Order: sequence, then structure tokens, then C-alpha cells
Amino acid sequence: MMESNSAPAHTTMVDSDNVVPEASESFVTTRAVDAVTKRALAYLQAGYPVHLAGPAGTGKTTIAFHLAALWGQPVTLIHGNDEFTVSDLVGTNDAGYRRSKVVDNYIHSVMRTQEEMRQIWVDNRLTTACRNGDTLIYDEFNRSRPEANNVLLSVLSEGILNLPGLRTSGEGYMDVAPSFRAIFTSNPEEYAGTHKTQDALVDRMITIRLNPPDRDTELAIVEAKSGLDELEAGYVVDIVRELRGTGDNKSQPTLRAGIAMGRILAMMNGRARFGDPFFHHLCYDTLGAETAKIQHAGKSVFTDLIDGVIKKVCPPSGARMGHKPGERKLKPVDSTAAPQPARRAAG
Ligand SMILES: Nc1ncnc2c1ncn2[C@@H]1O[C@H](COP(=O)(O)OP(=O)(O)OP(=O)(O)O)[C@@H](O)[C@H]1O
Ligand SMILES: [Mg+2]
Repeated sequence: MMESNSAPAHTTMVDSDNVVPEASESFVTTRAVDAVTKRALAYLQAGYPVHLAGPAGTGKTTIAFHLAALWGQPVTLIHGNDEFTVSDLVGTNDAGYRRSKVVDNYIHSVMRTQEEMRQIWVDNRLTTACRNGDTLIYDEFNRSRPEANNVLLSVLSEGILNLPGLRTSGEGYMDVAPSFRAIFTSNPEEYAGTHKTQDALVDRMITIRLNPPDRDTELAIVEAKSGLDELEAGYVVDIVRELRGTGDNKSQPTLRAGIAMGRILAMMNGRARFGDPFFHHLCYDTLGAETAKIQHAGKSVFTDLIDGVIKKVCPPSGARMGHKPGERKLKPVDSTAAPQPARRAAG
């Protein structure tokens, strides 16, 4: 599922291509997140590339940006791409066209125009990062073909970048600057559009496997990203988690589903209630589009499943809740009424 405004950390452009990430205020740190961050920082400190691997929506990109922000060096960002070749990573010899005027100082009437074609080497992002000692974030690196990524082998183990295109000018090898660090993320190989990575490359990184977050982390993230209070965010998160624990892979909603539900609910000033039509439809729409196609006797099996989960997790629409003094009273939801304007800003 797409999510708008999902930039994991603020970034500031420092020149045409580099970014300096700043730790985002909306980054949520819990014990589990902190443990990952601490280990990853230790590995970077020791000079090792870090690889965050795991299924979609487990926070890999967000943590990669956060780490880079904590590391504090300028960042070069590459997104894996099936069409990449080595030159998309290291650079290429571009055919440059040069035109110049020659004026003779002694014979003023002489003016020549020289034109020449020459090969001009243009660094691409990996080369820039290795040259400057930046932090490279190579997001979803296994979307690029292994042939393109081969160039990383010597970068990561020997600290040498091979630039065959510069061989004739004697710069065919470049020492990688000592401050260069790399953070990789990848999705599982069975995901569409990913390639199997060469073992030798993964062997050169330290891989931290991320799983869907624990409840505390997921709740804190949904609260932070949606503005819902803990109670309502808790219902949303429990529905997502309940569903994640059932069924096949395709129906496993990620963190993004909970964030989307939470944002929309907060924007509509709605409540997560069993029997509330808007909420039920919001759940159908945000949780597992694939499974919704499975029909039984003309009815989606998926909507029945969702209805059951909502019933299990949420109080019924219109139910009066027991409140401790000072707690916010929950009004029964009337979804047939026109949507109320938002009270809380999402995000
Ligand atoms: N620690 C966190 N603090 C705040 N938000 C987070 C955190 N971790 C994840 N998120 C949010 O969860 C969503 C999914 O995270 P992210 O995009 O990093 O996952 P991913 O593993 O890179 O997913 P994909 O494999 O699909 O690229 C994003 O909206 C992100 O903002
Ligand atoms: Mg990602």
C-alpha cells in the first residue's frame, strides 16, 4: 500500500545530489527499535556495512535513514533498479562536445574555431560516495541485478572501486575513502521484482533481520503517525495484528495499513467500532486487497473474516464505555451522518 508523507527522516539538500538526513521527530524509538539501532551503529563504527533485511513495511528504510542521520555524514542514496548496469552505479564516459575559439595575439585577423569530441568521465553515485567518504544508503539493493551490484564486492572487502572506464587515464582503481559506510536494505527474494543476491555480497555485510514490529512498537508508531489516542490506535493495531496472524501471506497487512487506517480515522474524527459501516469499509479497503478477491457463494470471504476480527477486538458501535474520571468519553458513532470536519491533523 502506498503511503503519502512517508519520508522516514527529514533531508536537506547540500549540493546537487547529496543529502544530509536529520533525525526525524516522528521516528519512534522503543526497546526493540533501539536494540536494532544500537547494534547497527556498532557495526558501522567497526567499519562494517549494515544490511537491514525483511518483509515489506517492517521499517527497514526508516531505520536506514535514521541510522544515517545518527552517523552524521552526508548521504548518497541509491534505490535498487532492475535496469541498472554497472555504469548507473559507478559512472560512465560520456561523449562530450567541446568548441573553442582561438585568437592569434600577433595576427589579429586570425581567429579559428576548434571543435573536438572527447570522452568525459562522469561519476555516478557510488563513485561519489566512495570518493567523498559518504554514507551510502542502497535501498532495496536486490531490485538491481547481481551483475550490476558485483562492483560492490571489492568496495566492501578491499576498499577499492574498480573503474575500468578510467583505465586509460591511469585511474582505473580508486581507493574508497575511510569514512565511507554503506547501509543496505532488501526485501525477501520471493518478492516480485527482486533478484537473488550473490552470496559473496551478503557475506560482506552484517545482516539484521527485521520482522513485523512487536505490539508496543506498532502501537507507538500508529499513534505517532496518525494522532489517534492510545485506545483507538490500540484497536486499529490489534485488528492488523490479529489479521497478520491468520491466513496466507497475501493477507498479511503491514505497518502501513495500520498507519493509513489510523490517519483516516483521526481525520474523520471516527472511532474503531464493530458495526460502524465507515470503519468496516475502511478496514476492507486498507487490509489485504488480494484476499478480497476470494469469493465464497458470491461473497468475499475476506469481509467475513474482517468483520469477525473487528467484533473480537472493538467495542460495538454505540456501546457505552466504562470511564475512569478524567478520561475522554467516547461518543457512539453514527456513520450515517455526514463526515465531521477533522479536529486532529493527520501525521
Ligand atoms: N521507528 C519508526 N518510527 C516511525 N515510523 C516508522 C518506524 N518504522 C517504520 N515506520 C513507518 O512504517 C511505515 C513502513 O516503514 P518503512 O517504509 O521503513 O518499511 P520498509 O521495511 O522499508 O518497507 P518496504 O519493504 O515496503 O520498503 C512507514 O510509514 C514508516 O514511516
Ligand atoms: Mg523500504
